[in-house]
Order: sequence, then structure tokens, then C-alpha cells
Amino acid sequence: MPIHLQIDGQLCDAEEGECLATVIFRQKSNVFRHHPVDGSPRAAFCMMGVCFECLVEVNGIAGQQSCLIQVQDGMIVRRAPND
Ligand code: FES
Repeated sequence: MPIHLQIDGQLCDAEEGECLATVIFRQKSNVFRHHPVDGSPRAAFCMMGVCFECLVEVNGIAGQQSCLIQVQDGMIVRRAPND
């Protein structure tokens, strides 16, 4: 059964239990955030909670590892919280 979440203000469809990082890859792009020092674009890499390249803001809480989060209906996600 599809659920709905917002990514950067846009409504997106996903399947219940899907990995948030996977939904971001599919719905948006491979840029999750920008490096706070040099501004380089960063993308999810390991998909298992090791690299910390997939950080996003979820429901107002920054620095969440999107590869470890299952999407939930009504979730509000923002990429690039360092911008
Ligand atoms: S993709 Fe490496 S910690 Fe999430």
C-alpha cells in the first residue's frame, strides 16, 4: 500500500517499509547534502550506516542517516540541511 511523504516540499509516493535513502535516490537525485567545509555534493554510499554521507533532516531533526530509516506516511524530509 503506497504511503506519501514530502521531500524538499514535494509530495512523493513510496511503499511502506522502504528505505528513505532509496526513495530519495528514486524520487530526487543522488545529491543528499553538501559538505560543510568545501561545499562538494555528497551522496549515500554504503547504505548500511557507516559512511554518514546520506544525512538529511527528517521531521525537523537534522543529521539523520537516511539509509537506516524506513519511510513513514506523512514524513517530512529535507536534503542538504547544511545549506
Ligand atoms: S549511506 Fe552510508 S551511512 Fe547512510
